[in-house]
Amino acid sequence: MTPTDAAQRVAALRDELAEHAYRYYVLDAPTVPDAEYDRLMRALEDLEAEHPELVTPESPTQRVGGEPVGDFGTVRHAVPMLSLLNAFAVDDVHDFDRRIRERLDTEDPVAYSVEPKLDGVAMSVRYEHGVLVQGATRGDGVTGEDITHNARTIDAVPLRLRGEDWPELLEVRGEVYMPVADFRAFNEQAEARGEKTFVNPRNAAAGSLRQKDPRLTAQRPLAFFAYGVGEITTGALPETHGAMLQRLRDWGLPVSPEARIVASVDGCLEAHDDLLARRDGLPYEIDGIVYKLDDLRQREDVGFVSKAPRWAIAHKFPAQEELTRVVDIDVQVGRTGAVTPVARLEPVFVGGVTVTNVTLHNEDEVRRKDVRIGDTVIVRRAGDVIPEIVAIVPERRPDDAREFVMPERCPVCGSRVVRPEGEAVARCTGGLYCPAQHVAALQHFAARRAMDIDGLGEKIIEQLADRGFVKTVADIYRLDLETVSGLDRMAEKSAQNLLDAIDRSRRTTLARLLFALGIRDVGEATAATLADHFGSLQAIADADVEALEDTPDVGPIVAGKIHAFFREPHNLEVIADLQAAGVAWEEGEGAAAARSDVLAGQTYVLTGTLAAMTRDEAKQALMARGAKVTGSVSKKTTGVIAGEKAGSKLAKAEALGVPVLGDDELQALLATE
Ligand code: IVH
Repeated sequence: MTPTDAAQRVAALRDELAEHAYRYYVLDAPTVPDAEYDRLMRALEDLEAEHPELVTPESPTQRVGGEPVGDFGTVRHAVPMLSLLNAFAVDDVHDFDRRIRERLDTEDPVAYSVEPKLDGVAMSVRYEHGVLVQGATRGDGVTGEDITHNARTIDAVPLRLRGEDWPELLEVRGEVYMPVADFRAFNEQAEARGEKTFVNPRNAAAGSLRQKDPRLTAQRPLAFFAYGVGEITTGALPETHGAMLQRLRDWGLPVSPEARIVASVDGCLEAHDDLLARRDGLPYEIDGIVYKLDDLRQREDVGFVSKAPRWAIAHKFPAQEELTRVVDIDVQVGRTGAVTPVARLEPVFVGGVTVTNVTLHNEDEVRRKDVRIGDTVIVRRAGDVIPEIVAIVPERRPDDAREFVMPERCPVCGSRVVRPEGEAVARCTGGLYCPAQHVAALQHFAARRAMDIDGLGEKIIEQLADRGFVKTVADIYRLDLETVSGLDRMAEKSAQNLLDAIDRSRRTTLARLLFALGIRDVGEATAATLADHFGSLQAIADADVEALEDTPDVGPIVAGKIHAFFREPHNLEVIADLQAAGVAWEEGEGAAAARSDVLAGQTYVLTGTLAAMTRDEAKQALMARGAKVTGSVSKKTTGVIAGEKAGSKLAKAEALGVPVLGDDELQALLATE
């Protein structure tokens, strides 16, 4: 390639890249995939490497320049960077509009530009002859910091303006922000690397912009929206703010797609309601909406109050973050016995509601955030998301701040609280007894694969528990017709049916009972193995952790949980109570004898609707003969037992050449001696 060819090719690549960047950042309508953009960029990098004389500072390859800066230089803003007055209520907005019209001496409505108030950091970027020469922070409004090295790394900020008709001097003002999705991803990665995370997208943007090393800033997913102009070549301003924003777009500067012109103050308020309703769906955080008098000449007549213009106002949205104090940290016991630390707060109005309690999830989270009783914290509530403590304010920690201690006893039932090694969640061990766990424990107990009490569903259980008829699972067996038929929507016939079902469930198996007790991590299969291995409930209850670990498929963690369950006297009381109420199962020789190992080493998958028995019954029957029953078909599967309407599992069996058995073959299998 001749030098002239190379120069032309470089220019063509830069034009093409600039056009794609414009379509992506300004029009929000890219026409090529990212990979194509990356390819063009690499082609340009390669050419520039071969022809270093063609490299210019505004080439898109030159966003990250050299070394970290020492101290930030200062930049004087020839046109001060002002702040905005705030409106919190509709009346404030009408007052704002009235003041403007009084100053303009008009009864007619005036037009406003409405724009989201982005929750980021203000930045000024200066273009001379269409080339980015300086980036600056707002500072005190008159003097800011020179952050040119960082401004250049933000892809949405063009290094060279688009087109030809830009003024010789153009200073653009806007907001640097971090899109919410990028903020979350960034924090997740930082956390995975054990690095510091940011409290919110605004802090992330501010922190990133104040980096001394532009290579670090370049890795932060920053974005930019322009919302105004500072210094500009005399005579280059159009007549309205709306027209100016459009010009900025034409020159390649991104402007919020939400920005628009309304004809009057009513339009402002409509735009406010509309944006507020869509706030949580926007890809970036906003803390309000800004109304600006659209006519730029009228602005001069309206003027300023000290550091803010009278012609603009920020109509604030309810804050999504507020400060408050942690008055206590106690715990809440969930339906499954999870003991969760909860911060009790001095009531604070945030995100549209008063927040007094915030979950801290688990002990590790309390330590990670280092929340202590007495701390001042930042509470966040965005949209419908549950409120959270995002961070503490370390400077405000009082000397007598106290650390949270996980209680040893459940505050609801007094049973022991344990946190198994390697697990984040502490739990109440009084699963059968604890009122906080009643409904979940009862539901599990009555389930088809547990005690199989037909008709005892969630709604009925809730009523029984709420009205105090049933406190533990043993109480189920003391229900009478009068009580049951007194429940909502319970006719005498169905009440009798329910009592019959309860009665039938009295005769059960050790495996079912064990599963029904709801010991954590003891599923159906483990319950069956335990029943098999120990033969009696007493033997299981008496076993130490090592003995439990000797059971096939029971590891130290599960063994620990089983052991803890039977060490809790409350649970033992309930079991004794069940026996007293007539619940009985075969034990010892009998239980073991009911099982055989004729199908040991074989694995079956059940699918579709079987004719003679439910899938669950078939599963129990197969397991009782030593077979394994799993949920997915593989080459190792001995056979797939397929009933009516069998679907993908049957197809998979056929594809893998696994034998397929029907109802008759299943019966034959179960008849094997
Ligand atoms: S106009 C003279 N427009 O809000 C008017 N500001 O106190 C100057 N902000 O830190 C600002 N979105 O960075 C304007 N659409 C918007 C804005 C906006 C966010 C920030 C700005 C400044 C603060 C105003």
